[in-house]
Formats: sequence, structure tokens, C-alpha cells
Amino acid sequence: MTEPRTSPTPRRLEGRLVALGVTGSIAAYKAVELLRLLTAEGADVVVVLTWSASRFVGPLTFATLSRHPVETDVLGLLPDERIGHIVVADAADAIVVAPATAHWMAAMASGLAGDALTATCLASSAPVVVAPAMDGDMWTHPATRANVARLRDEFGYAIVGPELGPLASGQSGIGRLADLPHIVDAVVAAVGGRPVRQPDPAARPPLVAAMRTPDLAGRHIVVTAGGTAEPIDPVRFIGNRSTGRMGVAIAEAALARGARVTLIAGRTEVPLPADARVIAAESTGAMRAALLDALGGADGRPGFDALVMAAAVADFTPARAATTKLVRGESLTLELVPTPDLLAEVGRIVRGLDSTGAPTRRALDPRPVLVGFAAETGSLDRAADKLRRKGVDLLVANDVTEAGSGFGTETNRVSILAADGGRDDLPLLPKREVAERILDRVARALDERDGAGHTARNASETLA
Ligand code: CTP
Repeated sequence: MTEPRTSPTPRRLEGRLVALGVTGSIAAYKAVELLRLLTAEGADVVVVLTWSASRFVGPLTFATLSRHPVETDVLGLLPDERIGHIVVADAADAIVVAPATAHWMAAMASGLAGDALTATCLASSAPVVVAPAMDGDMWTHPATRANVARLRDEFGYAIVGPELGPLASGQSGIGRLADLPHIVDAVVAAVGGRPVRQPDPAARPPLVAAMRTPDLAGRHIVVTAGGTAEPIDPVRFIGNRSTGRMGVAIAEAALARGARVTLIAGRTEVPLPADARVIAAESTGAMRAALLDALGGADGRPGFDALVMAAAVADFTPARAATTKLVRGESLTLELVPTPDLLAEVGRIVRGLDSTGAPTRRALDPRPVLVGFAAETGSLDRAADKLRRKGVDLLVANDVTEAGSGFGTETNRVSILAADGGRDDLPLLPKREVAERILDRVARALDERDGAGHTARNASETLA
């Protein structure tokens, strides 16, 4: 006998970004359940709290459930430096304020943008739904009546009026927050058939990093980080300005997404992630040996799924390192010889090519995804050629002379070039967010390589 086919109930807020504003009423705890109901309707929810709301329910609860940073401060910036309440104002398909206090409505009716929520509403052309909750006498006070009338009649806000019932004071009256399904219905009605305002997830408020799905579970990712040091003598070396921040951010992000991570570390100035297997490799020679070792897995299979080569590897090394300390003299001339291009070498090995590019052995199967970096000065014109030369799938190029980018900074502005010709120019972002964007591409490339089943299977195992 065949089961009767039931079509799933359509989710009425699918693909929508809803800003949930919460103000300082005892009913603030109900906003947690409202968030859940909005999410169940398919909405992506971002929460904006007033200061007093945050005394009833902490931002962590809302951040965990919404997977977005919570807006609490009108002066606050998102982790990626964008102005939080403006991003929410510009991207939200609807704003719902539930519960709305008498005080908040008075501020809103007067256009006083002293908190993140009034500021968001003032800056937004999205429809606004307001669900008041307060003491019965406050609700009937002429000031409140006038403010509600202004929000409804002049601002066009939809008011979901409070209901009759027991109140926090112990009295009974009209002031209880409306039933949550009614508020959800009002949001659905407010959104109506309008087009989605901001479909691009990158332009919406960012996801909380720790809440990302473990889409790299079961993967082994090798990351190189930091700068190499080429010995001149036992005390001196030729080095570079790399601090390892970018590579370490990638290693940390990969760990948070469920990957097993080997971090091949040159000289670094940041703490290394405790959960990674760290291999110290100060010189180009040591880094090469560590890479070749990591590459050879059992049964001719590669030892890793992806390599992200974020290290700043020297291009030249002293022809000979003195075995004793060089003494002061009139002058010193060092003879430098080129180092091998480690990434290009790995690129050839995975394809079974020799140093001339001729096929000599079997390509590695499955072929690891290779990601290179290109530190450029002035322009990124050489990046596409570098991608081809190194045989990588993705090349992350940045102009290290640009303010906020490059060595020692917390942020980076990069372009991600793909072997298929695609190019993604990212805005200035914290290095951790850049790391996430790179790993999004790596995860996708690995899924395409192995069939998308891999991620789904491993993610469900990790979540179980
Ligand atoms: N790289 C490498 N081995 C080297 C030099 C660089 O594996 N000997 C890697 C870096 O880790 C980075 C990428 O190659 O992922 C590009 O590094 P970059 O210094 O920008 O490029 P170079 O190959 O040095 O080219 P150029 O000096 O012409 O900029």
C-alpha cells in the first residue's frame, strides 16, 4: 500500500530577514519563543535589544538561537566593522518589536534614536509591526494612546494590540503581549508579496562563527602559516613581516567547522590553536619537508583533503648558512639562491607531473583542493597568472600596501580568484571572516569533488 502523499506546509517567511526588536518588558522572555516561531516559518532572524531588554534576557540566548550577533548598542559595529543597525535597517524585510514598552513607543513616536532599535526603525523603509506589552493603566494613558496612534496612523506601523489577562503586577487588565501566532501572522501580512530586500547573505548581518554547520567534518585540512626564516648563520636569518594571523584564523575556522587540522607553522606572533596538530617548520626547507610528508597518505591516497598555503615563504635563501656566527667586517655580501616554489611543487605532485610539467606518475586520487595566497603590492594584475603558474584551485590575493590589509592587521581585503575564471572581490573584513569565506569555497569544492553526500553525512554525525 502506498502512503498518501502530503505536501509540506509552505513556510511563509522563507528567505526573509526579520529583525526582532525586544524592549524592556517582563514579556521579553516571550521573544525567545517568538524567535523560534519566526525561524520555523523560514525566516532568518536578527535580534535588536534595548539595554533594558538585555537585563531581562541576555544577548547570548538570542545570538545562539538566531545565529547572528545581537544588536544592543546604537554605536556598535558588526565583527566585520559595518554599522550594525544600518545593516539591519537596510536588509530586513520586516521589523517586529515585541514586546514594545510604553517608553520605547514614546521614544519612537518622537523619533528619538538613542537605542539600537529606534535607530534601526528610523533608518529603515521596511514594514514595522509593534506588539505592545505593559501595565493596564499605562496602556490606557493618553500619552500611550497618542503615541500608538502616531505609530499606526502617521508611520504606518501595524499594531498588534495587547490582550486582556493577568499582568506582572498581579492585577488583571489589558496589557498582556498578544498571542505569539498573531504576531507572526502580522509579520507575514506586513511582508506580503514584496520582493526580498537583501537576498545576498554577505550583505546581511554576518552569522556567528561558532554556530556554523560542521561542513568540514571528516576532512583533513593542512594550513601553513607565518613567515619562513632562512638562516644566514646560527643567530641571523632572512625573514619577513608575516605574523601568521591569517593562517591561524583559517586553522581555527576549519577546526570550528569540524575539520582535522594540521598547522605547519613558520615564525608566528599569535597563539596557535590547541586543537590543531602543529608542525614547526621555520625554514623553507623544513616547510617543504613537512608538506611532502603530509601529502603522502596511505595506499597512494593523498594525506589531506585541502591545503591552504597562507605562509609567507621566502623566495630566496642564502646559498650557504655559516656554521659559526659571522663576525663584524667592512661589509658582507650574501649570495642568495632561489627557493623551490613549494605550492607549485605540490600542485605538480597532485597532478602526477614532473618539474617540466610532463606526466610521469599517477595523479593523486581524490585530488586535494589547493589554495594559494598572493601578497601583491599596488595591483592584483599578476594574480590570475600566479594561479595558473602554481596550479591551485583558488588564489587569495591581497594588496599588502593597502590600509587595514596585509601583515600584522586584524583585517584583510582580498579577492578570491578561482581556476574556472571566477573572481570574488570581498570588502575589508576581519581575518576570521575572510577565513570563513575561503573555507566556504573549499567546502564547496570538496563537495563537488566527492558528491554533496559527504557533508550532509558528516554534519549529521557531528550534530548527533
Ligand atoms: N609560495 C610557496 N613557495 C615559495 C614562495 C611562495 O609555496 N617559495 C606560496 C605562498 O605560500 C603563497 C603563494 O605561493 O601561497 C604565493 O606567494 P607569493 O609570495 O605571492 O608569490 P611568489 O611565488 O613569491 O611570486 P612573486 O614573488 O612573483 O610575487
